Amino acid sequence: MSVDNGVRLASLFGAVAFVLGLHLMNSPATARRGNQLSACGMLVAIIAVLVSVADGGTMSATRWLVLVCGALIGSGAGLYSARAVAMTQMPQLVSLFNAVGGGAAALIALADYQHDSHVSAGIATAGVLDVLIGGVTFSGSLIAAAKLQGYWSQPVNFPGSRLVSAALAVVAVAAGIAVIAGAHNPWLLGLVLIAALGLGIGMVLPIGGADMPVVISLLNAFTGTAVAMAGFVLENATLTIAGALVGASGGILTKLMADAMNRSVLSIMAGGFGTGATGIDVGPAGGGSVKSIAIDDAALQLAYASKVIVVPGYGLAAAQAQHEVRELGELLESRGIEVSYAIHPVAGRMPGHMNVLLAEANVPYDQLREMEDVNPEFDRTDVALIIGANDVTNPAARRPGNAVSGMPILDVDHARSIIVIKRSMASGYAGIDNELYGDPKTSMLFSDAKKGLAELVGAVKQVD
Ligand code: TAP
Repeated sequence: MSVDNGVRLASLFGAVAFVLGLHLMNSPATARRGNQLSACGMLVAIIAVLVSVADGGTMSATRWLVLVCGALIGSGAGLYSARAVAMTQMPQLVSLFNAVGGGAAALIALADYQHDSHVSAGIATAGVLDVLIGGVTFSGSLIAAAKLQGYWSQPVNFPGSRLVSAALAVVAVAAGIAVIAGAHNPWLLGLVLIAALGLGIGMVLPIGGADMPVVISLLNAFTGTAVAMAGFVLENATLTIAGALVGASGGILTKLMADAMNRSVLSIMAGGFGTGATGIDVGPAGGGSVKSIAIDDAALQLAYASKVIVVPGYGLAAAQAQHEVRELGELLESRGIEVSYAIHPVAGRMPGHMNVLLAEANVPYDQLREMEDVNPEFDRTDVALIIGANDVTNPAARRPGNAVSGMPILDVDHARSIIVIKRSMASGYAGIDNELYGDPKTSMLFSDAKKGLAELVGAVKQVD
């Protein structure tokens, strides 16, 4: 077999591995295998590219040195960060990876354009789109990572920001058209990049905390699309297929997230416009007085219930209390109580966060209920046990004029009794008070989720 055919076959293997890997990620039970298979496909694709580059005979010793050093530094940093990062910091890491992917794709197009003065209009179009989307992804994802890190979560607006974004879009489009029309000047593509970087910042800065899930999925889709464009520029099918898969799945996820949040993707992209994120606070705890509950009383309520719905949120992940919640669930079930887990699509800080967390603790998957399925059940629920969830339960979402307006929530306030485990009266990611805490049916169990759940398990065991 010729080297060329071998490389093509290896690329095909890589592409098939990505598709199958993605398919396996459909279920938590097979997701790990899916990840391994995709990584294996990526490794084979990289080796194929190296063999084809070596076979081309265009590589000098210096080029090899730069390539090997770059690969070692990149892989080392990736391996270290993926191993060292805490599970709760994973969303920021994913955002940084998005930034790196988009930035790398943009640099590929810039380098290719600089070296090749006779590109076809088709390749030039792919190059312009690569730089544009890659640049937006790079700067937007860096801002998103900073927001997820908690540096700030409030929307940042300044006068004339939309005008600046519109001007940047005009510059990017004009310079891009000139490049596609055949004006070969690397500065033109550089201009597209600078405008794209500004557009990325302008897109993510005004997004309110509650709308971040849509933006994160969108940036993920952008990364894939930029990489697919880089595949066209380099005429590398594996890169195009891998990018298209990420772009398409990210696009579907963005649509799902936007639907789940009752938002329009376009309005979010236009800078939070029309999302209802006015920054107006709702009243403290909805005006009612806040009632706290002791562990023993909460345990009694749970032990004598017939139906309990557990509502996990970001705090459960932060406290790493997934094993304790599974233990409590099993204990209640052993007393004949019906237990299920209500999963809000944007609970936590990344898509599927709660599913992954609970699967890690072996909570039976069939007990996990999507929002639309579980909401009608709160009416016949004795206790809604909210653990570290806040925004996704805030009834303020049902009224206009605040940061969570319009977002569908879990109807926990329909349950007969509500117990909330969190450490304080602090707000959630959207930065507004939760009206639920002033509801006469609500009792606050102020505690770290892990500690509170462990104590609840002990107390329920004492109940006859
Ligand atoms: P949040 O509204 O962020 O509230 C989490 C609550 O957990 C906080 O109020 C905090 O209160 C509590 N908490 C933190 N550490 C805790 C601990 N160790 N033990 C007990 N409680 C703890 O969470 P949510 O309801 O899951 O909502 C998610 C929010 O994040 C939404 O606004 C969503 O739009 C946004 N977001 C989601 C994503 C994705 S893709 N899921 C991405 C970005 C942003 P205390 O400090 O008082 O304990």
